[in-house]
Amino acid sequence: MATLTIGSPEAMEAFGGRIGSALRAGDVVCLTGNLGAGKTTLTRGIGVALHVRGTVASPTFVVARTHPSESGVPLIHVDAYRLGGVDELDDLDLDWDRSITVVEWGEDMVGKLVDSWLHIVIDRSSQADENVRTVTVTGHGDRWGNLEWVTA
Ligand SMILES: Nc1ncnc2c1ncn2[C@@H]1O[C@H](COP(=O)(O)OP(=O)(O)OP(=O)(O)O)[C@@H](O)[C@H]1O
Ligand SMILES: [Mg+2]
Repeated sequence: MATLTIGSPEAMEAFGGRIGSALRAGDVVCLTGNLGAGKTTLTRGIGVALHVRGTVASPTFVVARTHPSESGVPLIHVDAYRLGGVDELDDLDLDWDRSITVVEWGEDMVGKLVDSWLHIVIDRSSQADENVRTVTVTGHGDRWGNLEWVTA
């Protein structure tokens, strides 16, 4: 587990860039945090690092948006907020193996569909300054061992 403090939206996007640089096809990242915590901001940074086409935004009208990238490995950005459960996520038939998938609000479902995933929790409640977030990164499964690179 790795924990760090992030003091601005720009820093959150930069942190997303660090995460994005470590991702490859088949990787799954799950983002947990209250409304407005910074999940989409972090995902935007992942998108920049992956050189995706278009800017990552909140997928308001669709549950999942696929962003093609220069590398050929697309970024799938899922907002699981309105999904009724893991079956509905499964029904999307996402190409998990050949994509990099980031799921907001999916922590109760993702572990039932994939073996390995990176869980990032963004918390602002513990901070007096409204721009400061505490971020905790936990790896699940074989893919994610040592997480020293997250804070290095
Ligand atoms: N340190 C920070 N990290 C991330 N966002 C921050 C930070 N400080 C302030 N913000 C602001 O908080 C908001 C985060 O919005 P964002 O859409 O990323 O949240 P979210 O977790 O995806 O919300 P939702 O649950 O509605 O999808 C933005 O307006 C951003 O500018
Ligand atoms: Mg969001």
